[in-house]
Amino acid sequence: MGCKLKATVGIDDFEIYEREPEVGGTWYINNYPGCANDIPIIVYSFSFAQKDWGNSQWAPQPRIEGYIRDVVKDFNLSDHIHVKRTMLNANWNKEKEYWVVTIKNNETGEIFTRTSNILISAHGGLDVPRPIDTPGIETFKGDILRSQRYDQTVDLTGKNVVVIGNACTATQIIGEIAPKVKTLTQFARGKQWFLPKPVVHLGHPVVRWMLKYIPGLHTALRGLVFGVVDYFMKAMYVKNGEATRKKRMETSKRHVKNLAPAKYHDALIPDFQIGAKRRIFDEDYLKSLNYDHVDLIAERPARITENSVVRQDGTEVPADVIIYAIGFDTTTNKFLENFNNNGLNLRQHFANVGTGAYLGAAVAPLPNFFLLGTASPNCASGHNSVIFTSECTANFIIRVIKPIVYAKKGTVHVTKEAERKYQEWIREKHQEMIWETENVGSFYLDNNTGKNTALYPRSHTHYWWSTLIPKDSDFVYENVSKPWLLQFTSKKAMSAYGTALVAGTATWFLA
Ligand SMILES: Cc1cc2nc3c(=O)[nH]c(=O)nc-3n(C[C@H](O)[C@H](O)[C@H](O)COP(=O)(O)OP(=O)(O)OC[C@H]3O[C@@H](n4cnc5c(N)ncnc54)[C@H](O)[C@@H]3O)c2cc1C
Ligand SMILES: NC(=O)c1ccc[n+]([C@@H]2O[C@H](COP(=O)([O-])OP(=O)(O)OC[C@H]3O[C@@H](n4cnc5c(N)ncnc54)[C@H](OP(=O)(O)O)[C@@H]3O)[C@@H](O)[C@H]2O)c1
Repeated sequence: MGCKLKATVGIDDFEIYEREPEVGGTWYINNYPGCANDIPIIVYSFSFAQKDWGNSQWAPQPRIEGYIRDVVKDFNLSDHIHVKRTMLNANWNKEKEYWVVTIKNNETGEIFTRTSNILISAHGGLDVPRPIDTPGIETFKGDILRSQRYDQTVDLTGKNVVVIGNACTATQIIGEIAPKVKTLTQFARGKQWFLPKPVVHLGHPVVRWMLKYIPGLHTALRGLVFGVVDYFMKAMYVKNGEATRKKRMETSKRHVKNLAPAKYHDALIPDFQIGAKRRIFDEDYLKSLNYDHVDLIAERPARITENSVVRQDGTEVPADVIIYAIGFDTTTNKFLENFNNNGLNLRQHFANVGTGAYLGAAVAPLPNFFLLGTASPNCASGHNSVIFTSECTANFIIRVIKPIVYAKKGTVHVTKEAERKYQEWIREKHQEMIWETENVGSFYLDNNTGKNTALYPRSHTHYWWSTLIPKDSDFVYENVSKPWLLQFTSKKAMSAYGTALVAGTATWFLA
Protein backbone atom coordinates (compact mmCIF):
# COMPACT_ATOMS: atom_id res chain seq x y z
CA MET A 1 0.00 0.00 0.00
CA GLY A 2 2.86 2.31 0.90
CA CYS A 3 4.56 1.72 -2.45
CA LYS A 4 1.31 2.29 -4.30
CA LEU A 5 0.55 5.51 -2.40
CA LYS A 6 4.00 6.84 -3.22
CA ALA A 7 4.35 5.61 -6.78
CA THR A 8 0.78 5.74 -8.08
CA VAL A 9 -0.68 8.81 -6.48
CA GLY A 10 2.47 10.57 -5.32
CA ILE A 11 1.24 10.79 -1.73
CA ASP A 12 3.87 11.07 0.97
CA ASP A 13 1.61 11.90 3.87
CA PHE A 14 1.03 8.47 5.39
CA GLU A 15 2.34 6.40 8.28
CA ILE A 16 2.63 2.66 8.80
CA TYR A 17 2.64 1.16 12.29
CA GLU A 18 4.11 -2.32 12.75
CA ARG A 19 3.97 -4.32 15.97
CA GLU A 20 7.15 -6.38 15.37
CA PRO A 21 10.71 -5.04 15.49
CA GLU A 22 11.14 -5.64 11.75
CA VAL A 23 9.04 -5.50 8.60
CA GLY A 24 8.22 -8.77 6.81
CA GLY A 25 5.00 -9.88 8.53
CA THR A 26 4.51 -13.58 7.72
CA TRP A 27 8.09 -13.78 6.53
CA TYR A 28 9.44 -12.29 9.74
CA ILE A 29 7.24 -14.26 12.15
CA ASN A 30 7.59 -17.67 10.45
CA ASN A 31 11.30 -18.36 10.73
CA TYR A 32 11.26 -22.14 11.16
CA PRO A 33 13.76 -24.42 9.39
CA GLY A 34 12.69 -25.12 5.80
CA CYS A 35 10.22 -22.21 5.58
CA ALA A 36 9.70 -21.22 1.93
CA ASN A 37 7.08 -20.03 -0.55
CA ASP A 38 4.69 -22.55 -2.13
CA ILE A 39 3.76 -20.64 -5.25
CA PRO A 40 6.39 -19.82 -7.91
CA ILE A 41 8.26 -16.82 -6.55
CA ILE A 42 7.95 -14.94 -9.85
CA VAL A 43 4.23 -14.66 -9.01
CA TYR A 44 4.72 -14.39 -5.23
CA SER A 45 6.28 -10.94 -5.60
CA PHE A 46 5.03 -7.47 -6.46
CA SER A 47 4.33 -6.55 -10.10
CA PHE A 48 5.96 -3.16 -9.46
CA ALA A 49 9.07 -4.67 -7.83
CA GLN A 50 9.91 -7.57 -10.08
CA LYS A 51 13.18 -9.32 -9.39
CA ASP A 52 15.27 -11.91 -11.09
CA TRP A 53 15.28 -14.72 -8.51
CA GLY A 54 17.84 -16.79 -10.41
CA ASN A 55 17.35 -20.43 -11.28
CA SER A 56 15.05 -21.44 -8.47
CA GLN A 57 11.41 -20.42 -8.25
CA TRP A 58 11.28 -21.58 -4.60
CA ALA A 59 12.83 -19.09 -2.24
CA PRO A 60 13.62 -19.77 1.41
CA GLN A 61 12.12 -17.46 4.05
CA PRO A 62 15.28 -15.34 4.58
CA ARG A 63 15.34 -14.44 0.86
CA ILE A 64 11.67 -13.42 0.88
CA GLU A 65 12.14 -11.41 4.05
CA GLY A 66 15.19 -9.77 2.41
CA TYR A 67 13.11 -8.99 -0.69
CA ILE A 68 10.49 -7.20 1.44
CA ARG A 69 13.24 -5.16 3.11
CA ASP A 70 14.66 -4.27 -0.33
CA VAL A 71 11.23 -3.06 -1.49
CA VAL A 72 10.99 -0.87 1.63
CA LYS A 73 14.41 0.58 0.80
CA ASP A 74 13.83 1.01 -2.94
CA PHE A 75 10.55 2.87 -2.38
CA ASN A 76 11.96 4.99 0.46
CA LEU A 77 9.38 3.70 2.90
CA SER A 78 11.61 3.53 5.99
CA ASP A 79 10.68 7.01 7.15
CA HIS A 80 7.00 6.10 7.00
CA ILE A 81 7.30 2.85 8.95
CA HIS A 82 7.29 2.84 12.74
CA VAL A 83 8.19 -0.59 14.10
CA LYS A 84 7.54 -1.85 17.64
CA ARG A 85 4.29 0.10 17.65
CA THR A 86 1.05 -1.78 18.29
CA MET A 87 -2.20 -0.29 17.13
CA LEU A 88 -4.65 -0.67 20.01
CA ASN A 89 -7.90 0.79 18.73
CA ALA A 90 -9.41 3.27 16.32
CA ASN A 91 -12.54 5.40 16.63
CA TRP A 92 -14.28 7.31 13.87
CA ASN A 93 -14.94 10.96 14.64
CA LYS A 94 -17.98 11.87 12.54
CA GLU A 95 -17.78 15.64 13.05
CA LYS A 96 -14.11 15.92 12.21
CA GLU A 97 -14.29 13.20 9.53
CA TYR A 98 -11.19 11.40 10.74
CA TRP A 99 -10.06 8.31 12.58
CA VAL A 100 -8.47 8.65 15.99
CA VAL A 101 -6.00 5.81 16.27
CA THR A 102 -4.49 4.75 19.59
CA ILE A 103 -1.05 3.21 19.41
CA LYS A 104 1.32 1.71 21.95
CA ASN A 105 5.06 2.18 21.80
CA ASN A 106 6.25 -1.34 22.67
CA GLU A 107 9.65 -0.10 23.84
CA THR A 108 8.55 2.60 26.28
CA GLY A 109 4.97 1.55 26.99
CA GLU A 110 3.83 5.05 26.01
CA ILE A 111 0.33 5.23 24.54
CA PHE A 112 -0.36 7.95 21.99
CA THR A 113 -2.94 8.87 19.35
CA ARG A 114 -2.76 9.83 15.69
CA THR A 115 -5.53 11.07 13.44
CA SER A 116 -6.02 10.13 9.83
CA ASN A 117 -8.53 10.76 7.04
CA ILE A 118 -8.18 7.20 5.85
CA LEU A 119 -7.42 4.08 7.90
CA ILE A 120 -6.26 0.88 6.24
CA SER A 121 -5.78 -2.23 8.33
CA ALA A 122 -3.39 -4.84 6.95
CA HIS A 123 -3.09 -6.64 10.28
CA GLY A 124 -2.69 -10.10 8.72
CA GLY A 125 -4.61 -13.28 9.27
CA LEU A 126 -1.91 -15.87 9.85
CA ASP A 127 0.10 -14.51 12.75
CA VAL A 128 -1.56 -15.71 15.97
CA PRO A 129 -0.39 -19.29 16.76
CA ARG A 130 -3.14 -21.85 17.41
CA PRO A 131 -3.18 -22.64 21.15
CA ILE A 132 -1.51 -25.89 22.23
CA ASP A 133 -4.09 -28.23 23.74
CA THR A 134 -2.13 -31.44 24.37
CA PRO A 135 -2.66 -32.45 28.03
CA GLY A 136 0.50 -32.41 30.16
CA ILE A 137 2.37 -29.88 28.01
CA GLU A 138 3.28 -27.88 31.14
CA THR A 139 5.17 -30.86 32.60
CA PHE A 140 7.57 -31.22 29.68
CA LYS A 141 11.22 -30.62 30.70
CA GLY A 142 12.74 -30.27 27.22
CA ASP A 143 12.41 -27.50 24.64
CA ILE A 144 9.03 -26.67 23.16
CA LEU A 145 9.39 -24.88 19.84
CA ARG A 146 6.71 -23.33 17.69
CA SER A 147 6.93 -22.74 13.96
CA GLN A 148 6.18 -19.06 14.60
CA ARG A 149 9.02 -17.13 16.24
CA TYR A 150 11.01 -20.37 16.17
CA ASP A 151 13.96 -20.34 18.58
CA GLN A 152 16.87 -20.96 16.22
CA THR A 153 19.37 -21.20 19.09
CA VAL A 154 18.09 -24.67 20.05
CA ASP A 155 20.46 -27.20 18.46
CA LEU A 156 18.57 -30.27 17.24
CA THR A 157 21.66 -32.29 16.39
CA GLY A 158 21.54 -35.75 17.95
CA LYS A 159 18.23 -35.06 19.75
CA ASN A 160 14.96 -36.99 19.97
CA VAL A 161 12.54 -34.64 18.24
CA VAL A 162 8.77 -34.88 18.01
CA VAL A 163 6.91 -32.79 15.42
CA ILE A 164 3.18 -32.25 15.85
CA GLY A 165 1.18 -31.28 12.75
CA ASN A 166 0.95 -32.43 9.17
CA ALA A 167 0.37 -29.47 6.88
CA CYS A 168 2.67 -27.18 4.89
CA THR A 169 4.65 -25.98 7.89
CA ALA A 170 5.22 -29.38 9.56
CA THR A 171 6.29 -31.02 6.32
CA GLN A 172 8.73 -28.23 5.48
CA ILE A 173 10.27 -28.52 8.95
CA ILE A 174 10.61 -32.31 8.79
CA GLY A 175 12.14 -32.21 5.29
CA GLU A 176 14.79 -29.82 6.59
CA ILE A 177 15.69 -31.22 10.02
CA ALA A 178 15.34 -34.98 9.48
CA PRO A 179 18.95 -35.58 8.40
CA LYS A 180 20.50 -34.12 11.56
CA VAL A 181 18.36 -35.38 14.46
CA LYS A 182 18.74 -38.66 16.41
CA THR A 183 15.07 -39.64 16.07
CA LEU A 184 12.15 -37.79 14.56
CA THR A 185 8.56 -38.77 15.27
CA GLN A 186 5.70 -36.98 13.57
CA PHE A 187 2.19 -36.98 15.01
CA ALA A 188 -0.18 -36.35 12.10
CA ARG A 189 -3.86 -36.36 12.92
CA GLY A 190 -5.02 -35.53 9.35
CA LYS A 191 -3.94 -36.15 5.76
CA GLN A 192 -2.79 -33.91 2.93
CA TRP A 193 -2.48 -34.04 -0.84
CA PHE A 194 1.17 -33.88 -1.88
CA LEU A 195 2.20 -32.85 -5.38
CA PRO A 196 5.58 -32.73 -7.11
CA LYS A 197 7.12 -29.25 -7.06
CA PRO A 198 6.64 -27.71 -10.50
CA VAL A 199 10.12 -26.68 -11.57
CA VAL A 200 10.67 -23.79 -13.96
CA HIS A 201 14.30 -24.05 -15.12
CA LEU A 202 15.65 -20.56 -15.57
CA GLY A 203 19.33 -21.23 -14.88
CA HIS A 204 20.64 -21.67 -18.45
CA PRO A 205 23.02 -18.78 -19.33
CA VAL A 206 21.00 -18.01 -22.49
CA VAL A 207 17.77 -17.77 -20.43
CA ARG A 208 19.57 -15.61 -17.88
CA TRP A 209 20.87 -13.34 -20.64
CA MET A 210 17.44 -13.08 -22.28
CA LEU A 211 15.71 -12.27 -19.01
CA LYS A 212 18.25 -9.58 -18.28
CA TYR A 213 18.38 -7.87 -21.66
CA ILE A 214 15.08 -8.45 -23.48
CA PRO A 215 12.68 -5.75 -22.27
CA GLY A 216 9.36 -7.09 -21.03
CA LEU A 217 10.41 -10.75 -21.12
CA HIS A 218 10.41 -11.14 -17.34
CA THR A 219 6.94 -9.57 -17.15
CA ALA A 220 5.69 -11.82 -19.94
CA LEU A 221 7.06 -14.89 -18.17
CA ARG A 222 5.43 -13.73 -14.95
CA GLY A 223 2.11 -13.39 -16.77
CA LEU A 224 2.48 -16.85 -18.27
CA VAL A 225 3.28 -18.49 -14.92
CA PHE A 226 0.38 -16.61 -13.32
CA GLY A 227 -1.98 -17.88 -16.04
CA VAL A 228 -0.89 -21.48 -15.56
CA VAL A 229 -1.20 -21.25 -11.75
CA ASP A 230 -4.60 -19.53 -11.98
CA TYR A 231 -5.84 -22.20 -14.38
CA PHE A 232 -5.70 -24.70 -11.52
CA MET A 233 -8.59 -22.86 -9.85
CA LYS A 234 -10.55 -25.07 -12.24
CA ALA A 235 -9.91 -28.05 -9.97
CA MET A 236 -11.78 -26.31 -7.14
CA TYR A 237 -15.19 -26.32 -8.86
CA VAL A 238 -17.26 -29.26 -7.66
CA LYS A 239 -18.82 -29.91 -11.08
CA ASN A 240 -16.50 -28.62 -13.76
CA GLY A 241 -13.32 -29.47 -11.91
CA GLU A 242 -13.91 -33.17 -11.48
CA ALA A 243 -11.66 -34.32 -14.34
CA THR A 244 -8.83 -31.95 -13.34
CA ARG A 245 -9.12 -33.07 -9.71
CA LYS A 246 -9.04 -36.71 -10.70
CA LYS A 247 -5.86 -36.17 -12.73
CA ARG A 248 -4.20 -34.24 -9.89
CA MET A 249 -5.17 -36.86 -7.30
CA GLU A 250 -3.71 -39.60 -9.51
CA THR A 251 -0.49 -37.55 -9.90
CA SER A 252 -0.38 -37.11 -6.13
CA LYS A 253 -0.88 -40.82 -5.39
CA ARG A 254 1.89 -41.74 -7.84
CA HIS A 255 4.16 -39.11 -6.29
CA VAL A 256 3.58 -40.38 -2.73
CA LYS A 257 4.02 -44.01 -3.77
CA ASN A 258 7.26 -43.17 -5.60
CA LEU A 259 8.83 -41.28 -2.72
CA ALA A 260 7.44 -42.55 0.59
CA PRO A 261 7.75 -46.08 2.04
CA ALA A 262 4.77 -48.39 1.40
CA LYS A 263 3.98 -48.71 5.12
CA TYR A 264 2.88 -45.06 5.15
CA HIS A 265 0.85 -44.90 1.94
CA ASP A 266 -2.50 -45.39 3.69
CA ALA A 267 -1.63 -42.80 6.32
CA LEU A 268 -0.56 -40.30 3.67
CA ILE A 269 -3.18 -40.55 0.93
CA PRO A 270 -6.34 -38.61 1.79
CA ASP A 271 -9.89 -39.87 1.53
CA PHE A 272 -11.21 -36.38 0.73
CA GLN A 273 -10.85 -34.63 -2.60
CA ILE A 274 -7.94 -32.45 -3.58
CA GLY A 275 -8.64 -28.73 -3.15
CA ALA A 276 -10.57 -29.07 0.13
CA LYS A 277 -7.31 -28.08 1.84
CA ARG A 278 -4.38 -26.21 0.28
CA ARG A 279 -2.22 -28.78 -1.59
CA ILE A 280 1.42 -29.23 -0.57
CA PHE A 281 4.27 -29.20 -3.06
CA ASP A 282 6.86 -31.47 -1.51
CA GLU A 283 9.64 -33.91 -2.11
CA ASP A 284 11.96 -33.60 0.89
CA TYR A 285 9.37 -34.57 3.50
CA LEU A 286 8.17 -37.66 1.64
CA LYS A 287 11.76 -38.74 1.04
CA SER A 288 12.68 -38.23 4.69
CA LEU A 289 10.08 -40.81 5.73
CA ASN A 290 12.52 -43.42 4.36
CA TYR A 291 15.08 -42.78 7.11
CA ASP A 292 15.13 -45.52 9.77
CA HIS A 293 15.11 -42.88 12.52
CA VAL A 294 11.97 -41.13 11.18
CA ASP A 295 8.55 -42.38 12.21
CA LEU A 296 5.10 -41.19 11.14
CA ILE A 297 2.31 -41.77 13.64
CA ALA A 298 -1.08 -41.10 12.09
CA GLU A 299 -2.86 -39.86 15.19
CA ARG A 300 -2.96 -36.89 17.54
CA PRO A 301 -0.80 -37.20 20.67
CA ALA A 302 -2.67 -38.41 23.79
CA ARG A 303 -0.59 -36.47 26.33
CA ILE A 304 2.84 -35.25 27.20
CA THR A 305 5.08 -36.24 30.11
CA GLU A 306 8.35 -34.77 31.43
CA ASN A 307 10.36 -36.43 28.67
CA SER A 308 8.01 -38.07 26.21
CA VAL A 309 4.96 -37.78 24.02
CA VAL A 310 2.41 -40.50 24.70
CA ARG A 311 0.53 -42.26 21.88
CA GLN A 312 -3.18 -43.09 22.01
CA ASP A 313 -2.31 -46.71 22.99
CA GLY A 314 -0.14 -45.50 25.90
CA THR A 315 3.25 -46.11 24.23
CA GLU A 316 5.78 -43.41 25.10
CA VAL A 317 7.88 -41.71 22.43
CA PRO A 318 11.06 -40.22 24.01
CA ALA A 319 11.38 -36.48 23.34
CA ASP A 320 14.09 -33.89 24.01
CA VAL A 321 12.39 -31.30 21.82
CA ILE A 322 8.76 -30.93 20.71
CA ILE A 323 8.01 -28.78 17.69
CA TYR A 324 4.43 -27.60 17.29
CA ALA A 325 3.48 -26.85 13.68
CA ILE A 326 -0.26 -26.72 14.21
CA GLY A 327 -1.05 -23.52 12.36
CA PHE A 328 -2.84 -20.35 13.27
CA ASP A 329 -5.81 -19.15 15.21
CA THR A 330 -7.72 -17.45 12.42
CA THR A 331 -11.06 -16.90 14.11
CA THR A 332 -10.40 -15.21 17.43
CA ASN A 333 -8.96 -12.04 16.00
CA LYS A 334 -9.38 -9.71 18.98
CA PHE A 335 -8.23 -6.88 16.77
CA LEU A 336 -11.68 -6.63 15.16
CA GLU A 337 -13.09 -5.19 18.38
CA ASN A 338 -10.81 -2.24 17.96
CA PHE A 339 -12.40 -0.55 14.97
CA ASN A 340 -15.36 1.47 16.20
CA ASN A 341 -17.89 3.81 14.74
CA ASN A 342 -20.17 5.20 17.40
CA GLY A 343 -20.10 2.04 19.51
CA LEU A 344 -20.38 -0.42 16.62
CA ASN A 345 -17.20 -2.42 16.12
CA LEU A 346 -16.15 -4.70 13.30
CA ARG A 347 -16.70 -7.88 15.34
CA GLN A 348 -20.32 -6.89 16.11
CA HIS A 349 -20.85 -5.95 12.49
CA PHE A 350 -19.55 -9.35 11.34
CA ALA A 351 -21.79 -11.03 13.94
CA ASN A 352 -24.78 -9.12 12.51
CA VAL A 353 -24.21 -9.55 8.79
CA GLY A 354 -21.63 -12.38 8.60
CA THR A 355 -17.85 -12.14 8.29
CA GLY A 356 -17.07 -10.45 5.04
CA ALA A 357 -16.26 -7.20 3.34
CA TYR A 358 -17.15 -5.71 -0.02
CA LEU A 359 -14.40 -7.01 -2.35
CA GLY A 360 -12.58 -7.90 0.86
CA ALA A 361 -11.91 -4.21 1.39
CA ALA A 362 -14.85 -2.13 2.64
CA VAL A 363 -17.57 -2.47 5.27
CA ALA A 364 -20.69 -0.30 5.32
CA PRO A 365 -20.65 1.09 8.89
CA LEU A 366 -17.00 2.20 8.85
CA PRO A 367 -16.37 5.19 6.57
CA ASN A 368 -12.89 5.82 5.17
CA PHE A 369 -11.81 2.40 6.46
CA PHE A 370 -10.39 -0.50 4.44
CA LEU A 371 -9.01 -3.98 4.99
CA LEU A 372 -6.04 -5.29 3.06
CA GLY A 373 -4.05 -8.52 2.56
CA THR A 374 -4.82 -11.57 4.67
CA ALA A 375 -6.85 -9.31 6.97
CA SER A 376 -9.35 -9.02 4.10
CA PRO A 377 -12.08 -11.65 4.32
CA ASN A 378 -12.37 -13.92 1.26
CA CYS A 379 -9.31 -12.59 -0.55
CA ALA A 380 -6.80 -15.41 -0.11
CA SER A 381 -6.55 -18.45 -2.34
CA GLY A 382 -5.87 -22.13 -2.15
CA HIS A 383 -4.02 -22.17 -5.44
CA ASN A 384 -2.42 -18.80 -6.22
CA SER A 385 -0.54 -15.82 -4.77
CA VAL A 386 -1.87 -13.71 -1.92
CA ILE A 387 0.53 -10.96 -3.01
CA PHE A 388 -1.44 -10.69 -6.24
CA THR A 389 -4.82 -10.25 -4.55
CA SER A 390 -3.29 -7.80 -2.05
CA GLU A 391 -2.03 -5.70 -4.95
CA CYS A 392 -5.49 -5.74 -6.57
CA THR A 393 -7.11 -4.67 -3.28
CA ALA A 394 -4.54 -1.89 -2.79
CA ASN A 395 -5.17 -0.59 -6.32
CA PHE A 396 -8.92 -0.71 -5.71
CA ILE A 397 -8.63 1.17 -2.40
CA ILE A 398 -6.53 3.86 -4.06
CA ARG A 399 -9.10 4.32 -6.83
CA VAL A 400 -11.80 4.80 -4.19
CA ILE A 401 -9.93 7.08 -1.77
CA LYS A 402 -8.02 9.31 -4.20
CA PRO A 403 -10.25 12.42 -3.90
CA ILE A 404 -10.26 12.25 -0.09
CA VAL A 405 -6.51 11.81 0.03
CA TYR A 406 -5.97 14.83 -2.22
CA ALA A 407 -8.63 17.03 -0.60
CA LYS A 408 -7.79 15.87 2.96
CA LYS A 409 -11.51 15.94 3.68
CA GLY A 410 -14.70 14.09 2.91
CA THR A 411 -15.90 10.55 3.46
CA VAL A 412 -16.68 7.45 1.48
CA HIS A 413 -18.43 4.27 2.50
CA VAL A 414 -19.79 1.26 0.70
CA THR A 415 -23.58 1.00 0.73
CA LYS A 416 -25.31 -1.62 2.91
CA GLU A 417 -27.04 -2.94 -0.18
CA ALA A 418 -23.78 -3.41 -2.10
CA GLU A 419 -22.20 -5.10 0.92
CA ARG A 420 -25.20 -7.43 1.33
CA LYS A 421 -25.31 -8.36 -2.37
CA TYR A 422 -21.58 -9.04 -2.42
CA GLN A 423 -21.86 -11.25 0.67
CA GLU A 424 -24.69 -13.18 -0.94
CA TRP A 425 -22.61 -13.66 -4.07
CA ILE A 426 -19.63 -14.90 -2.03
CA ARG A 427 -21.76 -17.43 -0.10
CA GLU A 428 -23.52 -18.60 -3.26
CA LYS A 429 -20.29 -19.12 -5.19
CA HIS A 430 -18.63 -20.93 -2.28
CA GLN A 431 -21.39 -23.52 -2.48
CA GLU A 432 -20.01 -24.50 -5.88
CA MET A 433 -16.54 -25.08 -4.49
CA ILE A 434 -14.92 -28.29 -3.31
CA TRP A 435 -13.94 -27.00 0.17
CA GLU A 436 -17.59 -26.33 0.95
CA THR A 437 -18.93 -29.74 -0.12
CA GLU A 438 -16.03 -31.78 1.28
CA ASN A 439 -15.96 -29.78 4.52
CA VAL A 440 -12.94 -31.55 6.01
CA GLY A 441 -12.04 -28.67 8.27
CA SER A 442 -9.13 -26.35 7.60
CA PHE A 443 -8.05 -22.84 8.41
CA TYR A 444 -10.21 -21.77 5.44
CA LEU A 445 -13.36 -22.32 7.49
CA ASP A 446 -14.68 -20.21 10.34
CA ASN A 447 -14.76 -22.41 13.47
CA ASN A 448 -18.10 -20.97 14.56
CA THR A 449 -20.06 -20.87 11.31
CA GLY A 450 -18.23 -23.46 9.19
CA LYS A 451 -18.26 -20.88 6.36
CA ASN A 452 -15.26 -20.17 4.21
CA THR A 453 -14.18 -16.66 5.16
CA ALA A 454 -10.63 -16.97 3.86
CA LEU A 455 -10.79 -17.71 0.15
CA TYR A 456 -12.09 -15.89 -2.90
CA PRO A 457 -14.46 -18.32 -4.61
CA ARG A 458 -13.30 -17.51 -8.13
CA SER A 459 -9.94 -17.19 -9.94
CA HIS A 460 -7.47 -14.41 -9.20
CA THR A 461 -8.09 -13.10 -12.70
CA HIS A 462 -11.74 -12.71 -11.71
CA TYR A 463 -10.77 -10.79 -8.56
CA TRP A 464 -8.50 -8.51 -10.60
CA TRP A 465 -11.37 -7.79 -12.99
CA SER A 466 -13.84 -7.18 -10.14
CA THR A 467 -11.53 -4.67 -8.45
CA LEU A 468 -10.50 -2.89 -11.65
CA ILE A 469 -13.22 -0.23 -11.78
CA PRO A 470 -15.18 0.72 -8.64
CA LYS A 471 -18.93 0.82 -9.25
CA ASP A 472 -20.43 4.24 -8.71
CA SER A 473 -23.72 3.07 -7.20
CA ASP A 474 -21.92 0.98 -4.56
CA PHE A 475 -20.28 3.96 -2.84
CA VAL A 476 -21.52 7.06 -1.09
CA TYR A 477 -19.22 10.09 -1.07
CA GLU A 478 -19.86 13.05 1.22
CA ASN A 479 -18.14 16.46 1.29
CA VAL A 480 -15.88 15.53 -1.59
CA SER A 481 -16.31 14.97 -5.31
CA LYS A 482 -16.28 11.43 -6.65
CA PRO A 483 -13.21 10.01 -8.40
CA TRP A 484 -13.46 10.63 -12.16
CA LEU A 485 -13.25 6.87 -12.76
CA LEU A 486 -16.59 6.40 -11.03
CA GLN A 487 -18.20 8.80 -13.48
CA PHE A 488 -17.76 6.01 -16.04
CA THR A 489 -19.78 3.59 -13.90
CA SER A 490 -22.47 6.03 -12.77
CA LYS A 491 -26.12 5.45 -13.67
CA LYS A 492 -25.93 8.29 -16.18
CA ALA A 493 -22.87 6.82 -17.86
CA MET A 494 -24.44 3.33 -17.89
CA SER A 495 -27.59 4.61 -19.57
CA ALA A 496 -25.45 6.55 -22.06
CA TYR A 497 -23.56 3.30 -22.92
CA GLY A 498 -26.93 1.52 -23.23
CA THR A 499 -28.34 4.21 -25.52
CA ALA A 500 -25.18 4.18 -27.64
CA LEU A 501 -25.34 0.39 -27.89
CA VAL A 502 -29.01 0.35 -28.93
CA ALA A 503 -28.49 3.23 -31.37
CA GLY A 504 -25.37 1.60 -32.82
CA THR A 505 -27.08 -1.78 -33.28
CA ALA A 506 -30.16 -0.17 -34.85
CA THR A 507 -27.98 1.85 -37.27
CA TRP A 508 -26.06 -1.28 -38.21
CA PHE A 509 -29.27 -3.21 -38.94
CA LEU A 510 -30.91 -0.36 -40.81
CA ALA A 511 -27.86 0.65 -42.86
C1 LIG B 1 4.73 -20.01 6.50
C2 LIG B 1 3.83 -19.36 5.52
C3 LIG B 1 4.09 -19.43 4.18
C4 LIG B 1 3.25 -18.84 3.26
N1 LIG B 1 3.52 -18.99 1.92
C5 LIG B 1 2.68 -18.44 1.02
C6 LIG B 1 2.93 -18.60 -0.38
O1 LIG B 1 3.89 -19.24 -0.80
N2 LIG B 1 2.06 -18.06 -1.24
C7 LIG B 1 0.99 -17.33 -0.81
O2 LIG B 1 0.25 -16.81 -1.65
N3 LIG B 1 0.75 -17.15 0.51
C8 LIG B 1 1.56 -17.70 1.43
N4 LIG B 1 1.31 -17.54 2.76
C9 LIG B 1 0.22 -16.67 3.19
C10 LIG B 1 0.83 -15.31 3.66
O3 LIG B 1 0.42 -15.09 4.96
C11 LIG B 1 0.49 -14.21 2.71
O4 LIG B 1 0.95 -14.54 1.43
C12 LIG B 1 1.08 -12.82 3.03
O5 LIG B 1 2.42 -12.87 3.40
C13 LIG B 1 0.27 -12.13 4.08
O6 LIG B 1 0.65 -10.78 4.11
P1 LIG B 1 -0.17 -9.72 4.95
O7 LIG B 1 0.55 -8.43 4.78
O8 LIG B 1 -1.60 -9.79 4.60
O9 LIG B 1 -0.08 -10.23 6.45
P2 LIG B 1 1.18 -10.42 7.38
O10 LIG B 1 2.36 -10.79 6.59
O11 LIG B 1 0.73 -11.35 8.47
O12 LIG B 1 1.42 -8.97 7.98
C14 LIG B 1 0.58 -8.40 8.96
C15 LIG B 1 1.42 -7.48 9.80
O13 LIG B 1 0.59 -6.74 10.69
C16 LIG B 1 1.25 -6.64 11.92
N5 LIG B 1 0.24 -6.38 12.96
C17 LIG B 1 -0.77 -7.20 13.33
N6 LIG B 1 -1.49 -6.64 14.31
C18 LIG B 1 -0.93 -5.41 14.53
C19 LIG B 1 -1.24 -4.34 15.41
N7 LIG B 1 -2.26 -4.40 16.27
N8 LIG B 1 -0.47 -3.22 15.37
C20 LIG B 1 0.56 -3.13 14.52
N9 LIG B 1 0.90 -4.12 13.66
C21 LIG B 1 0.15 -5.23 13.67
C22 LIG B 1 1.95 -7.98 12.09
O14 LIG B 1 3.00 -7.90 13.00
C23 LIG B 1 2.42 -8.24 10.66
O15 LIG B 1 3.70 -7.74 10.42
C24 LIG B 1 2.12 -18.14 3.70
C25 LIG B 1 1.84 -18.07 5.06
C26 LIG B 1 2.68 -18.69 5.97
C27 LIG B 1 2.35 -18.60 7.41
N1 LIG C 1 4.70 -21.37 1.51
C1 LIG C 1 4.48 -22.49 2.07
O1 LIG C 1 4.88 -23.50 1.57
C2 LIG C 1 3.77 -22.51 3.36
C3 LIG C 1 4.41 -23.03 4.44
C4 LIG C 1 3.76 -23.07 5.63
C5 LIG C 1 2.48 -22.57 5.75
N2 LIG C 1 1.89 -22.04 4.67
C6 LIG C 1 0.56 -21.51 4.75
O2 LIG C 1 0.29 -21.13 6.09
C7 LIG C 1 -1.00 -21.54 6.45
C8 LIG C 1 -0.98 -22.43 7.67
O3 LIG C 1 -0.22 -23.60 7.44
P1 LIG C 1 0.24 -24.51 8.66
O4 LIG C 1 0.85 -25.72 8.11
O5 LIG C 1 1.08 -23.72 9.59
O6 LIG C 1 -1.12 -24.78 9.43
P2 LIG C 1 -2.45 -25.57 8.99
O7 LIG C 1 -2.57 -25.67 7.52
O8 LIG C 1 -3.58 -24.97 9.75
O9 LIG C 1 -2.17 -27.05 9.54
C9 LIG C 1 -2.04 -27.32 10.91
C10 LIG C 1 -1.66 -28.77 11.11
O10 LIG C 1 -1.66 -29.04 12.51
C11 LIG C 1 -2.68 -30.00 12.82
N3 LIG C 1 -3.30 -29.55 14.06
C12 LIG C 1 -4.05 -28.45 14.26
N4 LIG C 1 -4.41 -28.35 15.55
C13 LIG C 1 -3.86 -29.42 16.17
C14 LIG C 1 -3.87 -29.87 17.50
N5 LIG C 1 -4.50 -29.17 18.43
N6 LIG C 1 -3.20 -31.01 17.79
C15 LIG C 1 -2.56 -31.71 16.84
N7 LIG C 1 -2.50 -31.34 15.56
C16 LIG C 1 -3.15 -30.20 15.22
C17 LIG C 1 -3.63 -29.98 11.64
O11 LIG C 1 -4.30 -31.21 11.54
P3 LIG C 1 -5.66 -31.34 10.67
O12 LIG C 1 -5.22 -31.26 9.24
O13 LIG C 1 -6.21 -32.64 11.05
O14 LIG C 1 -6.52 -30.17 11.09
C18 LIG C 1 -2.64 -29.76 10.50
O15 LIG C 1 -1.94 -30.92 10.19
C19 LIG C 1 -1.54 -22.15 5.17
O16 LIG C 1 -2.03 -21.06 4.37
C20 LIG C 1 -0.40 -22.62 4.45
O17 LIG C 1 -0.65 -22.72 3.05
C21 LIG C 1 2.50 -22.01 3.46
